[in-house]
Amino acid sequence: MTIRTTTLPSGEAVPVFGLGTWKMGEAHSRFADEVAALRLGLDLGATLIDTAEMYADAELVVGEAVSGRRDGLFLVSKVLPSNASRAGTVAACERSLKRLGTDSIDLYLLHWRGGTPLAETVAAFEALKATGKIRHWGVSNFDTDDMAELDGVSNDRACQANQVLYNLTRRGIEFDLVPWSRKRSMPIMAYSPVEQGALARNGRLEAIAARHGATPAQIALAWTMREGGVIAIPKAVRAQHVRDNIAALDIVLSAEDLADLDKAFPPPQRKRPLEMI
Ligand SMILES: NC(=O)c1ccc[n+]([C@@H]2O[C@H](COP(=O)([O-])OP(=O)(O)OC[C@H]3O[C@@H](n4cnc5c(N)ncnc54)[C@H](OP(=O)(O)O)[C@@H]3O)[C@@H](O)[C@H]2O)c1
Repeated sequence: MTIRTTTLPSGEAVPVFGLGTWKMGEAHSRFADEVAALRLGLDLGATLIDTAEMYADAELVVGEAVSGRRDGLFLVSKVLPSNASRAGTVAACERSLKRLGTDSIDLYLLHWRGGTPLAETVAAFEALKATGKIRHWGVSNFDTDDMAELDGVSNDRACQANQVLYNLTRRGIEFDLVPWSRKRSMPIMAYSPVEQGALARNGRLEAIAARHGATPAQIALAWTMREGGVIAIPKAVRAQHVRDNIAALDIVLSAEDLADLDKAFPPPQRKRPLEMI
């Protein structure tokens, strides 16, 4: 399957679907299954994988899964705020590159804001770009005020994405962060798009799922990817979940579906602080 794409501020096309990896790499006994799940996703057409230095040995799982097939993939990793100083960011990136078994990360994100001045982290990102160790940089868990502050310390359009919590039960960003990002043509990467599995068990999705011969999790994912500018990155180890998630790209929600979903999961009427998991 060729996965539809959205566009980074740089103009590069990126898929609206990727493979998450949080909770992978935590147990040696599950390593082979996790590698197999990512490889299945790649075999089915996924090309974007999201990971982070924070996720135990998940970068090693990714490195194994992409070994021998790195070309054409889009790897995303993240630096911890506690490592995000000028020198610390470069060192963290070099460790991630080693674990991933690659010489360049496609998109490198600041995982969330910490105590380091943003200008320092941005300077490190720009230095990593100049040496080819990363191709793009972005942020994660940044609310609109953080994005405005980032604007003050980076070149216009330098930041390529903001990865935040977004799913049917976490719609707060639709009030201001989504419109802000759209104006900049900056994709939102939607993390926990099935609310860590909870939306797969949500009874309010069953009737719509039945209309499509789909599962509730697939409806939740199709909803997240319903418009351009959002990249959903569900994590799945079970093969059926990997297959279902990629198949969700084929689900087109009708106006009636969307109205029913708005009733069951109302959009925000006012600013809500950004939620994080
Ligand atoms: N930037 C950040 O701060 C941040 C925070 C959280 C997450 N993330 C990223 O976003 C990714 C996704 O978020 P997440 O892992 O928190 O939660 P998620 O993707 O919403 O949910 C993952 C859970 O849902 C299950 N699942 C997946 N597909 C399913 C399906 N089709 N039907 C039923 N159950 C399904 C998985 O089960 P199995 O694994 O058993 O298949 C797993 O237990 C992470 O892996 C990580 O890469 C980033």
